[in-house]
Amino acid sequence: MDNENPILKLKNEMDKHVVGHDQVKMALLLGIISREHIYIEGPPGTAKTMLSEIISSAAQLNFFFYQLHRDTRLSELIGDLVISKEKSDEGEIIKQKIVKGGILKSEICLLDDISRAPGESLNVLLRILNERKFFNEPIPLMTAIATSNPTADEYYNEPLDPANLDRFVLQIKSLGISYGKGWDDARKVIELYSNKSFNEDIPVSVSKEILDESYNKLDKMEIPSEVQEGLANFVTILVEDYGLNETNSLISDRTFFVKSLKIIRAHALISGRDTCTMEDLQALKYMTAFRIPEDIYDQLDNILQNLDRKKKIQMTS
Ligand SMILES: Nc1ncnc2c1ncn2[C@@H]1O[C@H](COP(=O)(O)OP(=O)(O)OP(=O)(O)O)[C@@H](O)[C@H]1O
Ligand SMILES: [Mg+2]
Repeated sequence: MDNENPILKLKNEMDKHVVGHDQVKMALLLGIISREHIYIEGPPGTAKTMLSEIISSAAQLNFFFYQLHRDTRLSELIGDLVISKEKSDEGEIIKQKIVKGGILKSEICLLDDISRAPGESLNVLLRILNERKFFNEPIPLMTAIATSNPTADEYYNEPLDPANLDRFVLQIKSLGISYGKGWDDARKVIELYSNKSFNEDIPVSVSKEILDESYNKLDKMEIPSEVQEGLANFVTILVEDYGLNETNSLISDRTFFVKSLKIIRAHALISGRDTCTMEDLQALKYMTAFRIPEDIYDQLDNILQNLDRKKKIQMTS
């Protein structure tokens, strides 16, 4: 990989501390660059929290870490309303102000074990993440990273309802090394921890200015018509050839026809290009882990290879 690309410093920082998990690392990079939210789901102890913490500390951003739990109250995330009384000549004045919580102040936040939060708090929290506003006031948040363990057997394989799940443009599965039989990686982790000091700090490696520069570059990045056509084909193929519909998948127009273009551009930027190519449609892999049924997700490499097929979105007017 090209070390001149400053964004790759973030990747190097993750590689230094965590073996494997290339897809999770890529999803995190795409999310940080495009300023979209990321959902990582996987079994316990597969470095979900660790990777999220590394990328959050390595990017020089105002960071908020919150471990969600069954009794999480909204005020722990967004802050408290404080009411005070003041005496004046005209009598008593009652004032109220909000002492802002982490979600309203941070640029990047880690919502660890999101599936443990009660639905009521979660709905408000995710609405704020989506709108990036609190009572009409914009919040500085760039990216939220949520982690979760697998919890249910249904095809979504997680407990967020579809509207909430769709708030996370990037979605990826984190798989364990041992059950995935990654014995080479297992040896590397053992070697890493045989030589590692117990307290290693993560040095800051990418400044806010660099992230701003990258974000501005995304804005100007060209998406040639063949790539636009490839994206249209992707959705057409999933719906028409693989039978995806509202009951078995989550293909929202917002995510696939609007947000995905940012992720495709971020993929080009990470690859060191300033124009998107068909290769950047690989970015769709990092958006679909929990949006399409598992058996179709397993065929994604094959689907992504055939996107230059001439096929048009059928216009129904
Ligand atoms: N691939 C790996 N490379 C290096 N260290 C690893 C790897 N996998 C696990 N570890 C070690 O295991 C620890 C546990 O990881 P972490 O707490 O991030 O897991 P998690 O996926 O968040 O688990 P949980 O679902 O229980 O919250 C890490 O801090 C790290 O020390
Ligand atoms: Mg964790």
